[in-house]
Amino acid sequence: MTPSADYTEKIPNNVDLHEDRRLQRALESWQPNFLSWWDSMGPALPTEDVYLRTAVHVGRAGWANFGHVAMRDYRWGVFLAERDPDRRIGFGEHRGEPAWQQVPGEYRADLRRLIVIQGDTEPASVEQQRNLGATAPSLYDLRNLFQVNVEEGRHLWAMVYLLHAFFGRDGREEAELLLHRNSGSADSPRILGAFNEETPDWLSFFMFTYFTDRDGKYQLGTLKESAFDPLSRTCEFMLKEEAHHMFVGTTGIDRVVQRTAQVMCEQDTDDVVAHGAIPLEMIQKYLNFHYTVSLDLFGSETSTNVANYFTAGLKGRWNEARREDDHKLTDDAIMVDSVVDGRIGLTEVAALTGLNTDLRRQYVDDCQTGVERWNRILERAGLPQRLYLPHIAFNRRVGAFAAVQADPWGQVLSPAEWDRRQGEWLPTDVDRAYVRSLMQPVYGRGRIAAWIAPPRQGINDKPVDYDYVHLA
Ligand SMILES: [Fe+2]
Ligand SMILES: [Fe+2]
Repeated sequence: MTPSADYTEKIPNNVDLHEDRRLQRALESWQPNFLSWWDSMGPALPTEDVYLRTAVHVGRAGWANFGHVAMRDYRWGVFLAERDPDRRIGFGEHRGEPAWQQVPGEYRADLRRLIVIQGDTEPASVEQQRNLGATAPSLYDLRNLFQVNVEEGRHLWAMVYLLHAFFGRDGREEAELLLHRNSGSADSPRILGAFNEETPDWLSFFMFTYFTDRDGKYQLGTLKESAFDPLSRTCEFMLKEEAHHMFVGTTGIDRVVQRTAQVMCEQDTDDVVAHGAIPLEMIQKYLNFHYTVSLDLFGSETSTNVANYFTAGLKGRWNEARREDDHKLTDDAIMVDSVVDGRIGLTEVAALTGLNTDLRRQYVDDCQTGVERWNRILERAGLPQRLYLPHIAFNRRVGAFAAVQADPWGQVLSPAEWDRRQGEWLPTDVDRAYVRSLMQPVYGRGRIAAWIAPPRQGINDKPVDYDYVHLA
């Protein structure tokens, strides 16, 4: 493996693909299927070219190139982080043994499943975001959308490479299915719930990239620990790209809050609808929705599957190396969220079975930093209002809290009261229609829609008013 990508090949890669002709041919025959999926399910807005970064090197210094490229000619490639020849397994019953370069037979089905679930989310988000180009608030934002889209496409390539290279015929079949399932499809939906929701407007897009891409960060973080070294190295490199997706979400919400706060101050009112901004309560409702569907992605509070994955070395914890315990957890316990006699509480379980809860708590802490950041914007504007993360039991479809209805402060509600009041906390049709009414495209250089503040700086040291996208 070399750190630099070979761009003379049909499929750019740093895995010496030319040395394995069978694998190369298999991936080259998957490539046209990928491209026809991209044409029919990828970004719908016709463009000439877009100022995009393309990964060229996995090393520390300068890993990407920037330039205007036609999106269809984007060089989706296969890149694994550099191999550490001495890498050892960091947790579970194989702790201390050398990392695996091949898939052990007994873990084949589980590893394939983990890769397929991760792989399924990547094209799903491209499908969800397909129509957003039609209503971009600026060329800068349009470029960021497309950057996220092409990189999610590359993440699909990353998972498809693993399936083709290490899972034989089953892997090739799974790679086909990754293009066959579609977000929101009635017959063959994407595997996870949040990836079948629509992303109909840009407020949803920013919330998605903040909350749902952040779930991806944590899932990739656990797979980065995997004893299966090619999976670990793939995820390590994907995390690098993922950071920009979350930046798009974080700063997107910053700018929406900023604009709303500005209008509130200038007009001395909370009711910013008349002035074309998004009211704070509406921002809160969107936040509530995207945060809670993303919490569902972490699965049930307890899971014997996940305990087995950990023990086997397939999937570790977030920051496994920094944990100060035996990395086996066979004798440890954890308190997990639960419902006891209809009331919200905690139950003690074996630490191994509670690993989903452990990961979700890391995620919740991380989400909280965004809320604090947005609240500082409100504070600086001299406004008393604050945003918050709703209680973990609010609006859940998966896990212990799927059985109860709770308000955003964790008070259990009767089903009737929930039905009556959920519109106070989740976007209603009226809210969604209002947000959608603001979504008018702004394609002029350096111009920006009225519902969002301009970005503080451009991409890759380019000015904010740079011609990031040339429309067709
Ligand atoms: Fe991704
Ligand atoms: Fe992402």
